[in-house]
Amino acid sequence: MSQLPSNPKPLSSRQAGALRGTVCVPGDKSISHRALILGALAEGRTEIAGLLESEDILCTARALQALGADIQKQSGHWIVTGAGLGGLIEPASPLDFGNSGTGARLMMGVVAGHPLRAVFTGDESLKKRPMGRVLDPLRQMGLQIAEEGQSKLPLTLIGTSSLVPMEYRLPVPSAQVKSAVLLAGLLAQGRTSVIESEKTRDHTEKMLAYFGAGVCSEAVEGGTRISVEGRGTLHGKPVTVPGDPSSAAFLAAAAILCPGSDVLVRNVLINPTRAGFYQTLREMGANIAFENERELNGEPVADLRARAGSLKGVHVPAARAPSMIDEYPILAALAAFARGPTFMDGLAELRVKESDRLAVMVAGLKACGVNAEASGDTLSVTGAGSVPGGAVIATHMDHRIAMSFLVLGLAAEAPVTVDDASMIATSFPEFQGLMETLGASFEDGARG
Ligand code: S3P
Repeated sequence: MSQLPSNPKPLSSRQAGALRGTVCVPGDKSISHRALILGALAEGRTEIAGLLESEDILCTARALQALGADIQKQSGHWIVTGAGLGGLIEPASPLDFGNSGTGARLMMGVVAGHPLRAVFTGDESLKKRPMGRVLDPLRQMGLQIAEEGQSKLPLTLIGTSSLVPMEYRLPVPSAQVKSAVLLAGLLAQGRTSVIESEKTRDHTEKMLAYFGAGVCSEAVEGGTRISVEGRGTLHGKPVTVPGDPSSAAFLAAAAILCPGSDVLVRNVLINPTRAGFYQTLREMGANIAFENERELNGEPVADLRARAGSLKGVHVPAARAPSMIDEYPILAALAAFARGPTFMDGLAELRVKESDRLAVMVAGLKACGVNAEASGDTLSVTGAGSVPGGAVIATHMDHRIAMSFLVLGLAAEAPVTVDDASMIATSFPEFQGLMETLGASFEDGARG
């Protein structure tokens, strides 16, 4: 049964003509969380331009404020006046991370290194997600959990000013776990290292270096070791957040599917640890290009041009999963329109995202008349060039499921309704408005 917030907002999409125009997507969600967090741990002022102002990010900002950081919006920029490493204080009320796994998990690493008690909570989706993957290494460093043996929110964390550094090998390819351990490592006496066998997004280590932390990455047997020196000083810095490639993916997909479309999305992050979706699109034969490639704050960005065209089914290897982990729902929607089967391997992590994305995508695609199946950690979708549509989709409080099916509805034969579009505000509040600017239209409420 679909779990919905008290005020669900059904929304429908139907076949659209050509989408055309030039737009910017809002700031990258991963970089936005990290800019606020490192700004709060730094000494001095961090001025952030282009911060994503979505629910997930606002939850992180509010949590940091409750912990004593000064965060304000001034003339369109966010100004963080840091408390300095170890300078956060005990919050008076629970820290509510809403729908955000990234916010909750990264902040567990921060709280671990402060001598304070904080209750972590979130919405019904976040309360079901596994926190043990972050709490296990943090416990080994010295964090205590009041609810012994529990690993789901709400939880009371008891941090310490005497964290012990460690070397930790990631049991799952997760940038959130890596980042939580590195953030805790900032507050431990000595060097903390994380070894990852598959490369995950590297924004934490890049931004740590930019803020002046002693951080290094080196190749080791079976992967990469990322190390941080504890108890240094972070210095506040100006940060400009590039456009989110995971949000741009929905606009690119819509342009590919709607005949006659030609869309330019400016200023999109194309960091290789995030760009697997775009590589897969090229392999599927999509008309997609990175134009005007350049650097912004040490991150590669480009203008992304997507034009309508036909797609062929492909085999997406498991090794690519970390670099496109959030893009499988929209890739599965695209695969439904391709000619031939698409196999996506290595997707175990999709079961523990905002929803069980393997099960939820299969159910939604089947409801739309598409041949889709999850077997083990492989998702297969067999496209036939067109999609019947005409279904109401259970989104299970998952923003990316909602956006994926709204895009699918733009090209399906009959309208598609998502049972709740309100969760889109967690990552991409401008989604509907930007799509309408390009020529798409949506209708509130369920359609028959
Ligand atoms: C994120 C890492 C990914 C991703 C999430 C954002 C991050 O999660 O799915 O949307 O900012 O570190 P995992 O690290 O758990 O795979």
